[in-house]
Amino acid sequence: MNADQPVVLISSGSGQTDSLLREGLASAFPNLEMRIVSGSDELPSVLAEVQVLLAWRFPFDRLKEARKLKWMQLLGAGLDSLQGIDLPVGLQITNIRGVFGPEMAEYAIAYMLAHEKNLFGFREHQRQHMWTPKEPGLLKGKTVGVIGLGSIGRVVVERCLGFGMRVIGLNRTGGTVSGLEHVYTTSEIDDLLPQCDYLVFVLPSTSETRGLITRERFRLMKPGVFLVSMGRGDVLDEQGLVEALRSGRLSGAALDVFSEEPVPPTNRLWDEERLFITPHIAGISRPEELLPVLKSNLAHYLQGEALENLVDLKRGY
Ligand code: OXD
Repeated sequence: MNADQPVVLISSGSGQTDSLLREGLASAFPNLEMRIVSGSDELPSVLAEVQVLLAWRFPFDRLKEARKLKWMQLLGAGLDSLQGIDLPVGLQITNIRGVFGPEMAEYAIAYMLAHEKNLFGFREHQRQHMWTPKEPGLLKGKTVGVIGLGSIGRVVVERCLGFGMRVIGLNRTGGTVSGLEHVYTTSEIDDLLPQCDYLVFVLPSTSETRGLITRERFRLMKPGVFLVSMGRGDVLDEQGLVEALRSGRLSGAALDVFSEEPVPPTNRLWDEERLFITPHIAGISRPEELLPVLKSNLAHYLQGEALENLVDLKRGY
């Protein structure tokens, strides 16, 4: 062990990503001692030594064993897996921000376009050898509400503007965001919902956002609205969502996040007509996108400088 260098544990939840991150970091920090644990047996001895943890899908309840831990860099954006966890006092926590926007905006646009152009309907007709012309719709001129205007939401806004949509949004403060016709505060959500042909949810799970879309709020939405959810699943009442799909209030929904993940095979969401389920893949932590952030923050850490992307656990992001 190199006495001047911190022990860094890499644990992303994927062995392949761990190796790529270690390789990428080793070229920039050749003297750094980087560990990857392959089995839970090795964890106690590594945790006792580790000062820096680069982690995602980690058994965070084990962090009380990491008595030397000074900094934890999450390899994703969400902090929900740290809820209720007893963390070492003084631990600095950073996350990944500013890299998921383009990919997640494409996810939203993909489903919005598929909906306007009836892609899934025509595919079904093809299966049945049916020639049934139906005039496709246009995103141009439609109103989209982007719920959550952090770095991801702002890229969604840009892309929607590029399609000529009318874009309104919502954040905690109602502060202005360029290109948006109006930004509502969380407490004004009931004014936003009835206006939107599309709603794109990009909210983290916080005490303010959990359960924000109640069954009653689905009833305030414009009839025929299409919903995309790719922040955290507990923002929406899933029972209310099912009712809204069945009543026709929602013309469809694409959900990447759920109150329980993985969604159990017995969950009736799977069988819902006009509901498109993806397994939390809208924004992937790709090693090539993580590495620049990790390198920059490791350099700050080694120089004793302030870290980038520090999170506030109380606030929830
Ligand atoms: C994240 C996610 O929070 O993948 O980064 O959902």
